[in-house]
Amino acid sequence: MSGHPFFLVFSCSVYLLPLSSGLAFKSQLDQVVLLYPGQVRSEGDLDTCKNGGICSIVHDTFWIPPRAERLCRCPGGEECPYTLAKPHDNRTLFLNNRAQMKTCNRTDEMPKCKLEQTALIIEETQTEAFKERKVLATAFCTCENPKYWTLQKHFLEKHPNGTTHMTSHYHCTNLGKCKVDEHCANVRLDYYSTYQHCLCPKGQQCLANKSMVTNVTELLFSGLAYRAYCSPFPSTE
Ligand SMILES: *[C@@H]1O[C@H](CO)[C@@H](O)[C@H](O)[C@H]1NC(C)=O
Ligand SMILES: *[C@@H]1O[C@H](CO)[C@@H](O)[C@H](O)[C@H]1NC(C)=O
Ligand SMILES: *[C@@H]1O[C@H](CO)[C@@H](O)[C@H](O)[C@H]1NC(C)=O
Ligand SMILES: *[C@@H]1O[C@H](CO)[C@@H](O)[C@H](O)[C@H]1NC(C)=O
Ligand SMILES: *[C@@H]1O[C@H](CO)[C@@H](O)[C@H](O)[C@H]1NC(C)=O
Repeated sequence: MSGHPFFLVFSCSVYLLPLSSGLAFKSQLDQVVLLYPGQVRSEGDLDTCKNGGICSIVHDTFWIPPRAERLCRCPGGEECPYTLAKPHDNRTLFLNNRAQMKTCNRTDEMPKCKLEQTALIIEETQTEAFKERKVLATAFCTCENPKYWTLQKHFLEKHPNGTTHMTSHYHCTNLGKCKVDEHCANVRLDYYSTYQHCLCPKGQQCLANKSMVTNVTELLFSGLAYRAYCSPFPSTE
C-alpha cells in the first residue's frame, strides 16, 4: 500500500468519466484537436472562467495531434492558449510530464505557492445520467515542476435530484523520495502520460507494469492507468 493521499481520500463510489471520453465534441485546428465538454460545440458556447481559471488542458500525444480539452472561456475576449509551451508562455502550469494546464491569468503575475496554501481548487458537477460533466478549475498560485499537486481536502455532495458536486483542494508540495520498490507513479493508458508521486531511490527507476491496469483518480483525470513501481536498474523485463 502506498498510503498516498490520493488513494486514501478518493474512496467514494462515484466514478467520473474522463474529460476526454467519447462524449467530448472534437474540432480540428492547426494540428491541435480541441475537445469540448457536454453539449458545447465551440469556444463561444463555453462558460466564462473565474479569476484564476484554468481554461484548457493540453496533452502532448506523441503519435497523434496534440489534444486540448477546453474548460471555459477567458474573460475579456482573451484567447486561451491551445499549444504546448516550450519552454514558457506565462500561461502554463504543469499537470504531468506530457500535459499542461493553461491559465487566463498570466502566471508571471501570480504568486508562487506557499507550502500550506490552497493552490488549486477543482469543482466538478455531474448529473445522474453521466450525460453532463462540468469541471471548473481555479489556480491561486504557480507550482513549478518537479513540485507536485497533492490532494488536501475533498468534499462530496449528492443532491436528491441526482446531481453530484465535488470540490477538491490541492497543495503544491515537493516531490518526496519513494521507498525501494514503492508505487511511484500512474501512467495513463490513453496518452501514456505519467503522474509522478515520488522520486525513486538511487539504483531504481520508475517503471510501469503493463500487467497492472487500474482505475485511478489524479488531478483532472479519472480512468485507466498502469501502476508504476520503483524497479531495479537495468530493467529485468
Ligand atoms: C513572461 O514573463 C516574463 C516576466 O514578466 C517576461 O520577461 C517574458 O517576456 C514573458 N514571456 C512571454 C512569452 O510573454
Ligand atoms: C487574475 O486576474 C484577475 C483580474 O486581473 C485578478 O483580480 C485576480 O486576482 C488574478 N488571480 C490570480 C490568482 O492572480
Ligand atoms: C440539483 O440540486 C442542486 C441543489 O439543490 C442544484 O444546485 C442543481 O442545480 C440541481 N440540478 C439539476 C439538474 O436540477
Ligand atoms: C507486474 O505485476 C505482475 C502482477 O502483479 C507481477 O506478477 C509481475 O512480476 C510484475 N512485473 C514486474 C516487471 O514487476
Ligand atoms: C474501471 O472503471 C470502469 C467504470 O466504472 C469499469 O467499467 C472498468 O471495468 C474498470 N476497470 C478496471 C480495470 O478496474
